[in-house]
Amino acid sequence: MCGIVGYVGTEQAGPILLDGLERLEYRGYDSAGIAVLSNEKGLQVKKAKGRLKVLSALVDGGKAVEGSIGIGHTRWATHGQPNDVNSHPHLSEDSRIAVVHNGIIENYVEIKEYLMGKGISFRSETDTEVVAQLLAYHYRQTGDIMQAVYRMLHRIEGAYALGILCADMPDAFIAVRKDAPLLLGYGQGCSFIASDVTAIIKHTREVSYMEDGEVAVVRADSIRVYNALGRPVEKEHSFIDWDVSAAEKGGYAHFMFKEIMEQPEAVRKTIHPRLKDRRVVFEELKMSPEEIRALQRIVIVACGSSYHVGMVGKYNLERLLRRPVETMLASEFRYCDPLVDEHTLVIVISQSGETLDTMAALRQAKSLGAHILSIVNVVGSSIARESDEVLYTWAGPEIAVATTKAYSTQLVLLNMLGLYFGDILGSIPAEEYASIVEELQALPAKMEEVLENTDRIKYLASVCFNHSSIFFIGRNLDYALGLEGSLKLKEISYIHCEAYAAGELKHGTISLIEDGTLVVALCTYAPLFDKSLSNIVEVKARGADVLALTDDSHAEELRKTVPNVLTIPDTHTVFKPSLGVIPLQIFAYYMALQRGCDIDKPRNLAKSVTVE
Ligand code: G6P
Repeated sequence: MCGIVGYVGTEQAGPILLDGLERLEYRGYDSAGIAVLSNEKGLQVKKAKGRLKVLSALVDGGKAVEGSIGIGHTRWATHGQPNDVNSHPHLSEDSRIAVVHNGIIENYVEIKEYLMGKGISFRSETDTEVVAQLLAYHYRQTGDIMQAVYRMLHRIEGAYALGILCADMPDAFIAVRKDAPLLLGYGQGCSFIASDVTAIIKHTREVSYMEDGEVAVVRADSIRVYNALGRPVEKEHSFIDWDVSAAEKGGYAHFMFKEIMEQPEAVRKTIHPRLKDRRVVFEELKMSPEEIRALQRIVIVACGSSYHVGMVGKYNLERLLRRPVETMLASEFRYCDPLVDEHTLVIVISQSGETLDTMAALRQAKSLGAHILSIVNVVGSSIARESDEVLYTWAGPEIAVATTKAYSTQLVLLNMLGLYFGDILGSIPAEEYASIVEELQALPAKMEEVLENTDRIKYLASVCFNHSSIFFIGRNLDYALGLEGSLKLKEISYIHCEAYAAGELKHGTISLIEDGTLVVALCTYAPLFDKSLSNIVEVKARGADVLALTDDSHAEELRKTVPNVLTIPDTHTVFKPSLGVIPLQIFAYYMALQRGCDIDKPRNLAKSVTVE
């Protein structure tokens, strides 16, 4: 949450910072601000509540601010309302130090009280301001900004990526990281920091990832990095292999729609390198067949849609491996004294690789001796780096807050992992293995087929968008699919909706069904088709309007009961959610569009959730 960018070079910093912030806006969009330093004008801070465009208008796209060194921030409010004063950058009392921050300073109250006791007054309600004030306090004491930074770091607790600009240091800014993402960018005669590479990809593809506790001094011609003890660190440089067009809308009205349409290709890229001679291979996995055979249990931990991938994984992996698989919300896992040990494989799923709860769950599982395998999209992210094994989804940058292509690539990768382990464990009959692989190869083309139904889904959304309460029902894999369908819809359209295991309806939820309630009935899981049909009949009898989803083989039968049926091509059971999720994403998209919602940046949300 919150995005940080910093630039130092020979060009005007303002427009570069604003452009970077635009690409980071998905991380938070309550307010935005920049601090730029110039010889003539000194340290200038401009900030504004609201979307980045408000700030942009204030500073003429950055052109109104003089100077070629600066830091910027886009905020997802935690401490204090989203208003101008609470926006970043925050200044020290003497306005000589400006700070941008992503994360939370947990002991800020205690530090604030201490500094107030020293006569320092505060302007904002934020935790971040204590960093600026504490830093200035130590700077006054030591006269050395680096010493002051280390003293400040010694004192603060919590998670932080920080960009620090000091009026007395006109050629450099300082970057610090602990438990929040921050990378360094090496340009031609210029240098950058950013929360995410999308902010700087236009200028450079050469980056390095900061580690916890590191401090970087960023100059136009050099970036020096020091560890927590102040000793120099040699950073390994990485090269980003996608270009700026991947992070742009490319003619689509919204990133979400672009990303929905990119799914077949993204899934193709995820599958392709891992399929050889009709067998799934994971050359990147270090686990030996013996280690895989020795596994007694698999626990999947994740948040949000990644958790929903894990829910599908529970059904599919248990079926394919005949081993117990449990899927847990990372935020629950970390506080439940989990029963994992060295015989447990913990699969961590995360698009961003930075979700704080997921990261904390990973560390806890690791400390208990579990082997950690992560499925991650963002290369070099914290979760990827701290895992024993990492499988990248290769979905490319995902910008819309509501995930689509990351979900799909995570799901296919998890299924492939099931195939790979099943092959080693001998738990999948040869004939079935061959038929799943065949369907795996056909999956991207079948996803393309589903995308061809977009107009029909758009029409259905145009007649459904006025509903104020919607229920998704399904059994087994359809239940897991319903969780994602309902999340997608509520997060971008703000319609209240819930997903229920259809068999649970009669234990309470059915009392909410009345004339005209919309029920989205998912019937793609063939073994329980008849049972799902009974549930549809039950809700219809209580007045529900039903929209149903099934596969081609069951469409005719379903149409006898439900007029509005969406279909997906027939496929192997394990891939039903991969196809089924697409109509639900498109439905959510058009429902939100009809309601005039801000699809790519839904209210109160952010894409990378680096707070608890
Ligand atoms: C946020 C995003 C979701 C995402 C979840 C977990 O809530 O809006 O789309 O599923 O975080 O994020 P991760 O990056 O760990 O997959």
